[in-house]
Amino acid sequence: MTRRNQPTIFLTGATGAIGSRVLEHYLECGSQVLVLVRPREGVSSVQRIGALLAAARLPSQVERRAQVLEGSIEEPGFGLSPVDRQRVIAATDIFIHSAAVTHLGASAAECERANVVGTEHALELARACQRQGHLRRFAYLSSYAASGTGRSGYFAEDSLPAQPVFANEYERTKYQAEMRVREELARELPVVLFRPSVTVGDTKTGRIASFNLFYQMIRILGSGMLSHWPDLRERKVNIVPVDYVARAIQRGLELAWALGRTFHLVSRNGCLLRDLFDLVKVFPYLRIPKLVPVAQWSLSLLSQKEQALHRALEVYLLPYLNDLRLETRNAERLLALPVINPTFLRRLLEYAVKAGYLPRDCFRPAALGPAGAPA
Ligand SMILES: NC(=O)c1ccc[n+]([C@@H]2O[C@H](COP(=O)([O-])OP(=O)(O)OC[C@H]3O[C@@H](n4cnc5c(N)ncnc54)[C@H](OP(=O)(O)O)[C@@H]3O)[C@@H](O)[C@H]2O)c1
Repeated sequence: MTRRNQPTIFLTGATGAIGSRVLEHYLECGSQVLVLVRPREGVSSVQRIGALLAAARLPSQVERRAQVLEGSIEEPGFGLSPVDRQRVIAATDIFIHSAAVTHLGASAAECERANVVGTEHALELARACQRQGHLRRFAYLSSYAASGTGRSGYFAEDSLPAQPVFANEYERTKYQAEMRVREELARELPVVLFRPSVTVGDTKTGRIASFNLFYQMIRILGSGMLSHWPDLRERKVNIVPVDYVARAIQRGLELAWALGRTFHLVSRNGCLLRDLFDLVKVFPYLRIPKLVPVAQWSLSLLSQKEQALHRALEVYLLPYLNDLRLETRNAERLLALPVINPTFLRRLLEYAVKAGYLPRDCFRPAALGPAGAPA
């Protein structure tokens, strides 16, 4: 334990949208947090976390509670040096496995290596922490999409459907990984599972470390590059604020009854596309396509170039505009579910504009990246 009895955390995925917020949250609560980070594009692991914490504007004495360990979840033992492995085993009270490949267009092999094999490596290290150290909880970040968004239906918290229909490899490998983690429940690894929905910015500021499919949808639909789109305004996407996700994870890891449970970390009402489109009108440089009644929709309304964009939306976005009904009985015992309202939506868009993700001025088509990120 660190000062004031705060648990020591070992966290993977600390540079991610959720992981970075979990890191900040635990640092602010007084925990020491060991983070597993890989260097990328010539930037060292320490520099990456330094930049992230600087952006979060944490006081330096809070920042100092983060300790960076270099490694990759794809390597056996996360590729940790023997000294670092021993540090993790000796120090960890709570192990949070958040790292994953979340890009919805990632190949089967990429998803398999990070999400399935990476989780296997996490379980091996967690068991070593339990055997040789004093592990109290192993948290696994799954996804509401692990139940398969290819078919609508009712999804329970403490189980996965027997015959899921997956929209992509991300979902398939998150399902496989969650199944493996669930097996460990029977072997008495102290597991708690969290399944967030599409995670968006902070409730009060809109801040988020990276922009996922919710933002990508607005970026593509608001780009003015699609002349027409089917009128799906009555469809919903379940979004959830990142600060709620971090608080719910912490709470789920401290309550005795939560051991062995799974939590759908989702909003109560989700976001209706109608509300989003109404809001987009307020932003001067976002232009939504002309909406065509679904019965009259035809791809021939679009040029070849537009059809490619439309396909990207179909592949990456449509699975998340569905009518999944998610059990939230466990989650509601943790914290009240967040409610999405137009003020919050506006804050999210304002932050995305401020951060340069959505345009302050006219769109440059080349600025559109591939749609990705999890749900
Ligand atoms: N955000 C959502 O909407 C959402 C919704 C439901 C579930 N989830 C789940 O929640 C978890 C966190 O999501 P997120 O949004 O924070 O994801 P994210 O923004 O895509 O970040 C993924 C994280 O995983 C790390 N990672 C990937 N491969 C790695 C490797 N080989 N070695 C070490 N680290 C690796 C990334 O590190 P690099 O920076 O080095 O790439 C990054 O820190 C994931 O398990 C995801 O499936 C997310």
